[in-house]
Amino acid sequence: MTLAKKLLFLASGRGSNFQSFVDHIELGILRNLLIAGVVCNQNRAPVLDRARKAGIQTFEIEGVTGKKFSSPEEREEARIAFDKQCLDIVKSQSIDFVVLAGFDQIVSKKFVDAFPLKIINIHPAYDLKKFGGKNMIGSRVHESVLSSGVEYSGCTVHFVTGKVDQGPAILKRRVPVLPGDTGSKLGERILLEEHLAYPEALQLLVEGRVLVSDSGDGCFVDFYSDNWDIFWYERQCAYIDIQSKQKRLHE
Ligand code: GRF
Repeated sequence: MTLAKKLLFLASGRGSNFQSFVDHIELGILRNLLIAGVVCNQNRAPVLDRARKAGIQTFEIEGVTGKKFSSPEEREEARIAFDKQCLDIVKSQSIDFVVLAGFDQIVSKKFVDAFPLKIINIHPAYDLKKFGGKNMIGSRVHESVLSSGVEYSGCTVHFVTGKVDQGPAILKRRVPVLPGDTGSKLGERILLEEHLAYPEALQLLVEGRVLVSDSGDGCFVDFYSDNWDIFWYERQCAYIDIQSKQKRLHE
C-alpha cells in the first residue's frame, strides 16, 4: 500500500483553492495525498472556517502582513520567526509538501532552503516574468495584464524559490482576455482554472512525474505515460461538473 503524502496549506484569505483540494479529495480525484493542516496568518480568514468544516486542523500564527514594525530588520525577524514555526509543523507532522494558497506573506529564504522544491505556489498569471513578483498581487495582476494588451493570461503552478514567483513552473493554463474584460471578470475566469490546475499539479508531483531541469529554469512533466492524462481527465470531470453547476447558479 502506498503511504499518502501529506500537505500543509499556508493561506490568508478566502481559501477557494484550498476548498478545491478538499473537494478533489472527497470526490476521489486526488489520490494518495491528504491535507494535514492549514496555517493561517489572518484570524478572521474564511479559509479557517472551510478547514474546520472539513475537519482539518488549523494553526493560527500571527503574521506580518498589515502590521507596523519599527524597522525593516524587526519585520524580517518576525517573518523568520513565523516561518520557523511553520518549519516546526512541517517536521512534527512529517509534511511532504507545503502548498501556498492565497498566502499574503513572502516565504523567507531560510524556509525555502530548509525545504527545497517542496513548497509550491499558484500565481494568477501565465507570464510570470511580466506579471509576477513582489508587487503583483490581487487585482493588480489582472489590471496589469489588461493594460499591457496581451491576448491571454492564465495561471501558473510553480516551485517556490528565493525569487518571488520565478521558481520553476510545473503547470500553466491559458485564459483568453475577452473584449470588454475587467480585472475582476478576468480574475474570476482564471480562478476557475486555478481550481483545476493546482490539484492536477500536486497529483503529478506526488506521483513523481515532475522533474526540475538541471538549469533550474523549468520542469519536465510526464503527463502522458500510462495514459495518466486520460485517467486524470476522466476523474476530474466529476469536479468540473460541480463547478459548472455552481457557475450557472451564479449567473
Ligand atoms: C488566487 O488567485 C491565487 O492565485 C493567488 O491568491 C488567490 C487566492 O485565492 N495566489 P483563494 O484564497 O484560494 O480563494
